[in-house]
Amino acid sequence: MKPTLHEHASACAKVILFGEHAVVHGQPALAAGLPGAVKLHAQPLGDARAPLRISIPAWDLELSLVPGDEHPVARACAEVLAHCDGPLQGWHVTGEATIPARAGLGSSAALTVSLARLALGPDAAITDVVEASMVGERVFHGTPSGIDSEVAARGGVLRFVRGSAPQTVSVPQPVRLVVVPSGVARSTADQVARVHRAIERWPLLARPLVEVLGRTAEQGEHALVAGDTARLGELSDLAHGVLAALGVSCAALDELCHVARAAGASGAKLTGAGGGGCMIAWPHGSDDEALVAAFARRGLVPLRLEVGA
Ligand code: PMV
Repeated sequence: MKPTLHEHASACAKVILFGEHAVVHGQPALAAGLPGAVKLHAQPLGDARAPLRISIPAWDLELSLVPGDEHPVARACAEVLAHCDGPLQGWHVTGEATIPARAGLGSSAALTVSLARLALGPDAAITDVVEASMVGERVFHGTPSGIDSEVAARGGVLRFVRGSAPQTVSVPQPVRLVVVPSGVARSTADQVARVHRAIERWPLLARPLVEVLGRTAEQGEHALVAGDTARLGELSDLAHGVLAALGVSCAALDELCHVARAAGASGAKLTGAGGGGCMIAWPHGSDDEALVAAFARRGLVPLRLEVGA
């Protein structure tokens, strides 16, 4: 049968609440999905033999899957489609994205999950979609833990341990969270390599730090389920300090955490690989107005979420 694509597909973006980097080293992490962050549409091209085109204006992304192209996005997309026995020619895939790319919100996993769904169809098993997405994620990030692909495919709030099936966490009362993009670009693979180097150089010091991050994920899950924003904030401040000690924060993220705390957040931390990307802050209770206004005054555009909604 001729390889084909389905008309529409979508995937979630993700916010890692606790446990980033530690999850690479076998510790638990807690993450929440942002539904419909990437939506793809496929239409046949007039020329069935023309290389498949991908256009996502929100990310300034316009590429053709020409064999031998070294562009990482082109390579990742071609490998995902090949894994799914999908077409590499004769289609135009256009996309909408509500999150910035390369900002620690799982844009690459959202892209590869929705591309896998275009090829495999809406009834594909989530495990097959995740496996296909991971083929692309390895092109982007080397040896990813898989948390981004799992959240992109499943959504909701997930507790994730590398190599095990993720567990859905039910949150009885949604909790507000403010996500602030720093505008600083970085590479996840480089950031992951920093933590590997810290562990190699100072194993007796860095390994316990990684374990502490895993414990923040466990304690954070309890606090989230209890709707305890004070504890979520304290745990976030602690996690941010530990991530900074492992070398994955940066001046821009530290500054954003200070702004959040000064504006009344119960606590704040980097999210994702760090070194740029985004910061998250928990407002006290459900009022995020002062927090959002403090960032808006600095020309930043926070995303407002309800974790568990
Ligand atoms: O690429 P990001 O910023 O969404 O970060 C991924 C999370 C890490 O734990 C740093 C890496 C991984 O593979 O889990």
